[in-house]
Amino acid sequence: MPLRYIANIDLEKLALEHIVPRLHDTGFCYLDSFLGEVIGDCVLEQVKCMHYCGALKDGLLAGRCQGMSQSHLRGDKIAWIAGTEEGCEAIGFLLSLIDRLVLLCGSRLGKYYVKERSKAMVACYPGNGSGYVRHVDNPNGDGRCITCIYYLNKNWDSKVHGGVLRIFPDGKSYVADVEPLFDRLLFFWSDRRNPHEVQPSYATRYAMTVWYFDAEERAEAKQKFRNLNAAKKKEAPPSEAE
Ligand code: OGA
Ligand code: MN
Repeated sequence: MPLRYIANIDLEKLALEHIVPRLHDTGFCYLDSFLGEVIGDCVLEQVKCMHYCGALKDGLLAGRCQGMSQSHLRGDKIAWIAGTEEGCEAIGFLLSLIDRLVLLCGSRLGKYYVKERSKAMVACYPGNGSGYVRHVDNPNGDGRCITCIYYLNKNWDSKVHGGVLRIFPDGKSYVADVEPLFDRLLFFWSDRRNPHEVQPSYATRYAMTVWYFDAEERAEAKQKFRNLNAAKKKEAPPSEAE
């Protein structure tokens, strides 16, 4: 492992001199060679293991009919993991480093105050030409403020294999193309500032994503969800058992 990552001070430097300013300037940023070859390889092996043992299932689209195939819109296979599972130690280590980086951004993330995150979503596009159509991760205030993706693809040639993440920064005339290269760690704002798509992939494409929550927006979203469910219950006709 590059020694610099053992020292908190260098993570702090990355957070304060790289991630924070770039997020504020352009809305996204990435770091290359984040873990180094050896530990990156361990993460890749753990992800491949999950893929080969059949742990990855079709990704679903928010708000769509469950059970209906939407693979022409979203073609990845996914699993949610905590990183504490047996055999996922390298993934757990990666998550702890990313957590530390985001915590070190501290109060410099504009209006956001980050206290928690989602589990990690391990995703594989199988290389059959599927991708993920243009979307916004958090269009309606579900609490997610930062999307963080770690890519795992060695010898990736986007001209041959496709699979580029294209970001369409809101209100800008340019697009930003991010290749899903091995050991690359990407951050971007999860809201409407960053519509994005995964272009069709013609080779197996692995990535792991976590979403960090803004405490206030998350609490409001949970409250809205509870109110909605309470209203639904009131409306529902009594069941036969009652
Ligand atoms: C997603 C997504 C991007 C990528 O899963 O929401 O946009 O590059 N993934 O894998
Ligand atoms: Mn997305």
